[in-house]
Amino acid sequence: MEGPTTGKRKGFLKAFCLLFLIISLIFIQTELSRGAEDDIIELGKKVYNSRCVICHGPKGDGKGLIGIIHRFEKRGMVWNIYPRDFTVGVFKFRTTPTGCLPTDDDLLRVVTYGIPRSYMPSQADLSLKERKAVIEYIKTFSIRWEEEEPCDPITIKKPDWVGCPESVAKGKKLWKDMKCWECHGWEGKGDGPKADKIKDDWGDPILPFDFTTGATKMGFAPENIYAAYTTGLDGTGMPSYEDSMTEEQRWHLVSYTLKLMKRLKDVKKRCK
Ligand code: HEC
Ligand code: HEC
Repeated sequence: MEGPTTGKRKGFLKAFCLLFLIISLIFIQTELSRGAEDDIIELGKKVYNSRCVICHGPKGDGKGLIGIIHRFEKRGMVWNIYPRDFTVGVFKFRTTPTGCLPTDDDLLRVVTYGIPRSYMPSQADLSLKERKAVIEYIKTFSIRWEEEEPCDPITIKKPDWVGCPESVAKGKKLWKDMKCWECHGWEGKGDGPKADKIKDDWGDPILPFDFTTGATKMGFAPENIYAAYTTGLDGTGMPSYEDSMTEEQRWHLVSYTLKLMKRLKDVKKRCK
């Protein structure tokens, strides 16, 4: 005969077994995902050591065997390009607001296409898995990635009047009023009055972009140019203009910078 107490005890036993099962399942799940994470970091490390270590260094501090990627003379000064130091966790080419960590997509773009003008090579021949793994690995160099989450990217939606004559004229006025010329020069040649005095966060002199030559580092598309001065290139002295201009004004400025770059004809537009 089953008394009320044995029934209760059975119920308790059942609940206990269920709880035990759930806890062990959770445990196995976290162990498995931790194992998968370890595998990704391990793969990332392998990729890093074969592809990146020579420039970015074994500690990720930018002190690889090739300490200086490029050295050139301009306006009587010697300029150096150094590989990025990942230990501070500051990134230039983001779609996230100034001061924020980049998104994985931002890093993937940099790793996939490389950085023109900086001699960081494209890694498009690596598999997507390898590129994603090496991104996870470089995050291990800075504690910022443990303490912070990347912010949400800004919305980038190009109006179809970008590149039209009226917009170019408005952009030209903004170029003057917003003092882009102080660094980039009136004609966008990177020779403004402040150009020789800018230092980056790592203490090295840095040249403002010369719009009349060569590729932008972030990409040629109007959207990339828009992102560059909306979010700012952290660590370079190139500020964010997200708060000081309206969205419309920033797109007019894209029109004008495309003109400086002689790229207006490449832009799909609908003018009045
Ligand atoms: C030939 C040298 C060289 C190699 C190899 C190289 N890089 Fe770079 N990397 C650079 C330089 C130089 C910069 C800085 C560019 C700048 O600030 O203009 C840079 C910057 C970066 C940045 C910072 C982007 C930002 O938004 O600030 C990331 C991320 C990066 N590299 C990842 C990698 C990874 C991952 C690899 C290997 C798969 C790699 N790099 C291989 C030279 C190199
Ligand atoms: C205090 C100096 C300074 C001012 C002011 C400034 N910039 Fe820059 N800008 C820089 C520097 C320095 C770089 C180069 C960063 C690098 O090469 O890593 C740069 C780079 C750029 C780039 C190239 C991004 C790329 O992908 O390579 C664009 C676009 C740009 N600036 C637009 C503007 C516009 C538009 C304004 C005005 C609203 C402006 N800048 C004001 C210093 C400045």
